[in-house]
Amino acid sequence: MPLLCIASPKGGVGKTTLTANLADALRRRGRRVLAMDLDPQNALRLHFGVPLADRAGFGPELARGGSWRGHIRQTAAGVALLPHGTVDMAEALTLANALERMPERLTGPVRELLADPSLIVVADLPPGPSRALDLIAPLSDMVMIVLLADAHGAALMPEIDSGRFLGLGGLHGLQPGRLRLVLNQVDYGSRLSRAVAEALARHLGPRLLGAIAREDSVAEALAAQRLVLETAPACRAALDLRELGQAVATALPLPVEAPAAIGAWWAR
Ligand SMILES: Nc1ncnc2c1ncn2[C@@H]1O[C@H](COP(=O)(O)OP(=O)(O)OP(=O)(O)O)[C@@H](O)[C@H]1O
Ligand SMILES: [Mg+2]
Repeated sequence: MPLLCIASPKGGVGKTTLTANLADALRRRGRRVLAMDLDPQNALRLHFGVPLADRAGFGPELARGGSWRGHIRQTAAGVALLPHGTVDMAEALTLANALERMPERLTGPVRELLADPSLIVVADLPPGPSRALDLIAPLSDMVMIVLLADAHGAALMPEIDSGRFLGLGGLHGLQPGRLRLVLNQVDYGSRLSRAVAEALARHLGPRLLGAIAREDSVAEALAAQRLVLETAPACRAALDLRELGQAVATALPLPVEAPAAIGAWWAR
């Protein structure tokens, strides 16, 4: 039932990394989780061990109005994955046009997933404003904005406070209670990173849901196409991810308890 969107005004801050690893953290808390890739970069799959040559996904299917359910995969981590699929320029434009003219091509499938009362859907969005965010933010229980603990992250505060960020569409009408922020790549060995993290924590108060340390183990997990809690469960970032999972689980509406065996729950 709950939908969590992960977005950011700036690219490369760790949205995809957090989508994959937070989905894993929630799954380890006993939840049924589906991670959905709404970014044409099609990178979310890499965290779950999908081979590079496997480029299939539901994005091109949405453009065609085809059947998207067949693109849901069960991953070794136990998280269900809906990869975006690799698209060329023409397909990307076709998809963008389709969503502009027929928003239900995306909102329909998302609503269908949300109708499952025991499922948490975590969606990875492209950087900056996007049609996808515009369409699904109103359906979401939480929009999580990822920021870096650096000067750029600090400079975004007036925009975030006023709601004038990520475009005037999607987030403008969001109830403030649904917007949460996470600091990623906090470098505890850096004076600037620490100072910004402390200042942002003071400024944001309860809107700040958590902070994730910058550690090689996070990037190395991606290099191994695996998840941090699996490859480096004792590192600082793993601890941070578990805490973030707990904060998210507490903040989201409670889904119905997951059945003991997940099985092929989507095959219906
Ligand atoms: N906490 C972290 N510690 C170390 N490296 C990290 C951390 N988080 C993310 N990274 C690395 O930063 C890079 C960018 O991360 P990621 O692709 O998740 O960002 P993104 O916001 O999804 O990017 P884009 O805007 O292009 O979609 C990756 O190489 C990733 O491994
Ligand atoms: Mg990304």
